[in-house]
Amino acid sequence: MENINWKDLSFGYIKADYNVRCYYKNGEWGKIEVSSSEYIPVHIAATALHYGQEAFEGLKAFKGKDGKVRLFRWEDNAKRLQDSAKGILMAAPPVELFKKMIKKVIRKNQRFIPPYGTGASLYIRPVLFGTGAQVGVKPADEYVFIIFVTPVGPYFKEGFKPVSMLVTREYDRAAPLGTGKYKVGGNYAASLTSMEKAHNEGYASVLYLDAKEKKYIDECGPANFFGIKNNTYITPKSDSILPSITNKSLIALAEHMGMKTEIRKVELDELETFEEAGACGTAAVISPIGKIVDDVTGKTYEFKNAPGKISTELYKKLQAIQTGDEDDIFGWIEILE
Ligand code: PLP
Ligand code: COI
Repeated sequence: MENINWKDLSFGYIKADYNVRCYYKNGEWGKIEVSSSEYIPVHIAATALHYGQEAFEGLKAFKGKDGKVRLFRWEDNAKRLQDSAKGILMAAPPVELFKKMIKKVIRKNQRFIPPYGTGASLYIRPVLFGTGAQVGVKPADEYVFIIFVTPVGPYFKEGFKPVSMLVTREYDRAAPLGTGKYKVGGNYAASLTSMEKAHNEGYASVLYLDAKEKKYIDECGPANFFGIKNNTYITPKSDSILPSITNKSLIALAEHMGMKTEIRKVELDELETFEEAGACGTAAVISPIGKIVDDVTGKTYEFKNAPGKISTELYKKLQAIQTGDEDDIFGWIEILE
């Protein structure tokens, strides 16, 4: 293995030794296979290729000071993958299969788990897609479920430093009654142009507004949005955003810290009243937001003291639980034996 510089890892792909795969055929899931290949032969008429029948997940494993490997909230990811699968009519991998495959792929790639104290972690990427052939627009009758892993550092290159976000009125990511609440590839394809525009203009990501009224905050590219004011953690309620497991965890942490929490519609203009704002997700962890710019009106919302006190505390607490520095009082961690 080439020497990995754990401390300088970005959020990218590094080949690990093995991935695991399971095929769905004739109405049932087969045996778990271990592969060292990064490739998979796919039928030229596979529904994943033509009609976007594909969903994925993202979760992390962390090495603690005690050398133990901790998996964070894997069962929530397993259930969300089932929701995504049902949302676009794919066969849903059972939770038990998800668990077995995750454990196997981590065990097979131990040497890629970043050491404690490097800030890096092992990113686990389950992916499910239709392999069966169709030419008409119909769901496949065959699927493959693959899990690979790769060691990663921070998603936004700034790490825990303030990022800027662009509000764009030119593009939508997801329709109100569309697939925004599922983790399906099509949503990410739909975000590429606007995300590239944001990157080209020096922003870390797009802050999407609701597609119908262009009035309420939806989410921040591949992360949910939260704001803080008056000792309250506020996060948008929307049917077109991904239900983030990190966000759910921050809500629990905020309540534990004695804060109020609100899940409700958040108007863009309410940004003026927030003391802190951030993006949260598995890859992003927490990215404090320093500035949000509206591309049409040019209006700018600034958070000059970012990262704020509460975002910093939430970030530290979440990471302390993930690495085992703090007790897992919420039951979020499974230690890998
Ligand atoms: N929103 C989108 C669109 C995402 O891709 C992600 C990443 O998974 C999130 C939010 C954050 O979700 P989670 O905290 O479960 O990783
Ligand atoms: C995650 O946070 O796990 C994601 O999936 C974000 C992304 C890289 C799509």
